[in-house]
Amino acid sequence: MLKISDLKNLIETHLKTLEVPKQPKGLYSPIYYGLSMGGKRLRPSLCLASAALFGDYTPALKPACGLEVFHNFTLLHDDLMDHADLRRNQPTVHKKWDANTAILSGDAMLIKAYELISRSPAGALPQVLDVFNQTAIEVCEGQQYDMEFEKRDDVTVEEYLEMIRLKTAVLIGGSMKIGAIIGGAPPEDCNALYNFGQDIGLAFQLQDDWLDVFGSQKEFGKRIGGDILANKKTFLLISAISRLEGVKKGELLDWLQRKEYDAGEKIAAVTALFEQAGVSDLLCQTRNRLFNDSLEQLSKVGGDKEVKQMIEDFSCNLMERAR
Ligand code: IPE
Ligand code: IPE
Ligand code: MG
Ligand code: MG
Ligand code: MG
Repeated sequence: MLKISDLKNLIETHLKTLEVPKQPKGLYSPIYYGLSMGGKRLRPSLCLASAALFGDYTPALKPACGLEVFHNFTLLHDDLMDHADLRRNQPTVHKKWDANTAILSGDAMLIKAYELISRSPAGALPQVLDVFNQTAIEVCEGQQYDMEFEKRDDVTVEEYLEMIRLKTAVLIGGSMKIGAIIGGAPPEDCNALYNFGQDIGLAFQLQDDWLDVFGSQKEFGKRIGGDILANKKTFLLISAISRLEGVKKGELLDWLQRKEYDAGEKIAAVTALFEQAGVSDLLCQTRNRLFNDSLEQLSKVGGDKEVKQMIEDFSCNLMERAR
């Protein structure tokens, strides 16, 4: 029986064989660095699993790696934009090297991603490229909203959900749709898998917001409280602004305005306000609701029943993730 860990291992092995030139070292070393420091490999694993639902998944291997390279490219630029100095428990590329390195090595990774995606079977390629292009541009749109929202205090939950749909969820949906296309799935199944991937992607980003505040740095691999310092309009912050009243609400809004502060003090104070507002439970309820909705989409998908169960189990585990 196919296991998701087999697919992940296959991706891991294949990523190691990728031909990236050695010179100039300043361009290529950060690419090796980013790709070799681990990661859950969930997008390419789900891509292969989606192909496996309908047929042979091996023709999806290169494009699946392309999706992982694309994801890692977005992380280089995202860490620069978010002033994040730690990822997967290692210094981020712009910290270990510098900002220009994160920009240019990131650009090279995007090109490498296209090269790998273009190795899709010829018959599937036009459709795969359509999905990938749409997805990649939407990720940029989501990232732009994410940054714009840092400057606003009136972001609604609806706006937030649309922002995370774009920055995070579409790539998971797109990865599954691309796998399904290569596997030869009927269009209805391709679309249902896209919708499923997108829905688990929303729940996945909610969990990411939660871990950024309440997770363990050792397991999560990122600096806890980074979103708080950047005034990210996460589900927690938006909900706390709307739930708190009077003095407490004033305190929270004051932390968002302050230009000078001690980082540890701000993180502790805002976390305490989140706790007083009860937004951690609210996030978990919303995440679970989104996840249950996603199963509705998965139930519409045809293909091999055991592979489908594997996808469902993997997604369930993803919701409980600590890293
Ligand atoms: C991090 O993605 C970026 C988000 C969309 C939250 P992952 O949590 O999949 O990161 P890795 O690849 O496993 O490190
Ligand atoms: C991730 O959002 C979105 C993309 C990388 C496109 P975050 O900024 O929350 O991701 P992390 O927490 O840095 O991994
Ligand atoms: Mg970030
Ligand atoms: Mg970000
Ligand atoms: Mg995050």
